[in-house]
Amino acid sequence: SRYSRITGTGSYLPPRRVTNADLAAELAANGIETSDQWIIERTGIRARHFAAPEVTSSDLGVQAARHALEAAGRKASDIDLIVVATSTPDMVFPSAACILQNKLGIAGCAAFDVQAVCSGFVYALTVADAMIRTGSASKALVIGAEVFSRILDFKDRTTCVLFGDGAGAVVLEASETPGILASDLHADGKHVGILCVPGHVSGGQVLGDPLLKMDGQAVFKLAVGVLEQAARTTLAKAGRTEADIDWLIPHQANIRIMQGTAKKLKLPLDKLVVTVDEHGNTSAASIPLALDVAVRSGKVKQGDTLMLEGVGGGFTWGAVLLDF
Ligand code: ACO
Repeated sequence: SRYSRITGTGSYLPPRRVTNADLAAELAANGIETSDQWIIERTGIRARHFAAPEVTSSDLGVQAARHALEAAGRKASDIDLIVVATSTPDMVFPSAACILQNKLGIAGCAAFDVQAVCSGFVYALTVADAMIRTGSASKALVIGAEVFSRILDFKDRTTCVLFGDGAGAVVLEASETPGILASDLHADGKHVGILCVPGHVSGGQVLGDPLLKMDGQAVFKLAVGVLEQAARTTLAKAGRTEADIDWLIPHQANIRIMQGTAKKLKLPLDKLVVTVDEHGNTSAASIPLALDVAVRSGKVKQGDTLMLEGVGGGFTWGAVLLDF
């Protein structure tokens, strides 16, 4: 049998770290009131990184990809598939994946973006796994890269304190042993309005609002239930149980959603990988960023069983279970 397996991880954060106090001071200058205490209590976020205005998702993604290649002991020229999960691509087209491919100094391999907002990385990993198992690819780069700071409304304190910029990447290779054990993806487009950037480009202008809109409580209510369901379905498909999970690596949106999911799965909180405190919500980049931090800090070791899960705009959600 042919499976896929992660052979290297990498990540990259833009250097500018903005603490809650820094952000509160910037917002106060525009008459918007928030506080370090409110943000920590409601979200678990202490700081986020913001990219400089000229820096794009592919710029962040290519750095993460280089670190993942190095960890896997591979050269860029070994790669035959690039999948980038992003909702903040460099351009309307071509894809961030094509631009990133050129920045890696390679050409010819398949490259495309996946757009599933904060579920983007579990979607991208599932697509790359399927392509590897069917023989369409053998060494893939799967990357989540975002510059959400570009689409934040800094006049809306209910959303602008939540997000950050960054990128994470994995090298996924064909293997005789798994690797990825099972995955489960879903979407329900009737919830478009609770989390969206409704603007679009038309006739050379942006029509509609190009900034993020979110009904935080509606998202919260949906998130915990669908995440539990996706995790359980994925475990059942793989013939495993909650007790087999060494690390839960959820999308890093809000510590209360993450802890809520861990509790529903009866996992002790010390099996939960948390980076939301230092990264904020980096959308499609949050899971591979958290994975790389957990690998490099020595938490996640070879052979560990990992549950990755995400939920985001669309509404989209899903989970991937894998042996690392
Ligand atoms: N600073 C200070 N006060 C604030 C802020 C802020 N940044 N934002 C809102 N408030 C105020 C509100 O105005 C409100 O005041 P009021 O009671 O006087 O009206 C009060 O705080 C409570 O607001 P709520 O919206 O009820 O706060 P809640 O406890 O629901 O927390 C939050 C808001 C953090 C957004 C929460 O709903 C949440 O986490 N939702 C999930 C969002 C999420 O995870 N989204 C991402 C998932 S998908 C993706 O990643 C794209």
